[in-house]
Amino acid sequence: MRLVDQRALPERLVFLECATVASLCSAIRSLAVRGAPALGAAGAFGVALAAHHTDRPTTVVAAARRIAATRPTAVNLRWGVEQALMAYRSGGARAVLGAARRVVADDIAANEAIGRHAVDLVDDGARVLTHCNAGHLATCGYGTALGVVRGAVAAGKRVSVYAGETRPLLQGARLTAWELERSGIETTVIVDSAAAGLMAAGGIDLVVVGADRIAANGDVANKVGTYGLAVLARHHRIPFVVAAPTSTIDLATPTGADIPVEQRPADEIAVVGGRRVVPRGVAVSNPAFDVTPARFVGALVTEVGIATRPWRSTLAAHRRSGFATGRADPTDPPDRT
Ligand code: MRU
Repeated sequence: MRLVDQRALPERLVFLECATVASLCSAIRSLAVRGAPALGAAGAFGVALAAHHTDRPTTVVAAARRIAATRPTAVNLRWGVEQALMAYRSGGARAVLGAARRVVADDIAANEAIGRHAVDLVDDGARVLTHCNAGHLATCGYGTALGVVRGAVAAGKRVSVYAGETRPLLQGARLTAWELERSGIETTVIVDSAAAGLMAAGGIDLVVVGADRIAANGDVANKVGTYGLAVLARHHRIPFVVAAPTSTIDLATPTGADIPVEQRPADEIAVVGGRRVVPRGVAVSNPAFDVTPARFVGALVTEVGIATRPWRSTLAAHRRSGFATGRADPTDPPDRT
């Protein structure tokens, strides 16, 4: 597998080759590849990689379990692994590669559809705040939250983006700013704690974020800090929109309280640019995600369209008719009529 190594951005665009499942697992854990939909594709290709190396189904299934366990919050990872395993069980190593390729193609198509559906949510001249990176890099192309921005720009609207830097790993500053700059979309990076003042000053018209998992009741897990932005947006009467493919909707998880939140190593916070900034011996807590209660979400855009309340029924309907629903024969081309 050949992946953009997101750890090296924005200084260098380099690629990482993963020839084994172990190297892929380490790439996922260290965020060389990250972002829920990109993890789904990485998981599916990881199963293909395992199937390429062995004829023993039990070894492939064990590898699939190891890959799925690398990051617990983004449900797309488990979903991508399951898509590939389903294909493997019915058609072996050749079918699993086809299924992984389809995960990629479907994700790009889903993101482009999200961009089209969301056009009316973005006014001409809108100043859009986003968090973390939910763009090309986090998906298989185009992006979810940034897909909303790209869709609006493609429709001829002038849009400028505020990217929260996204402590501690700076996905907003490093990745969102990098890809928007390459796309020629006006971007300003702010520290995460500047969002409140900017909203109070009337500087933000819309908040758009991606998601790592959407529970059946509409609660949304996304990069830590998202919940705070949702509360701020409500206080300042700014629309708060979540954009995600239906593969991010997890109907088996009833509420946000049931979503496992990944705890990451303390040194991601305690060490900045190689220098220790938290005294040794002081506790550090590093949850990678938080959960935004559904009541703070104004609209949720998937490839099916714009979902609004009541969340349970609309999310179930989106999941049923979206690209994420398994087809009986995974080698069939998707039906997108
Ligand atoms: O820890 P990360 O960088 O994988 O977290 C990513 C996010 O929180 C994204 O907002 C989310 O996965 C949506 S990506 C389209």
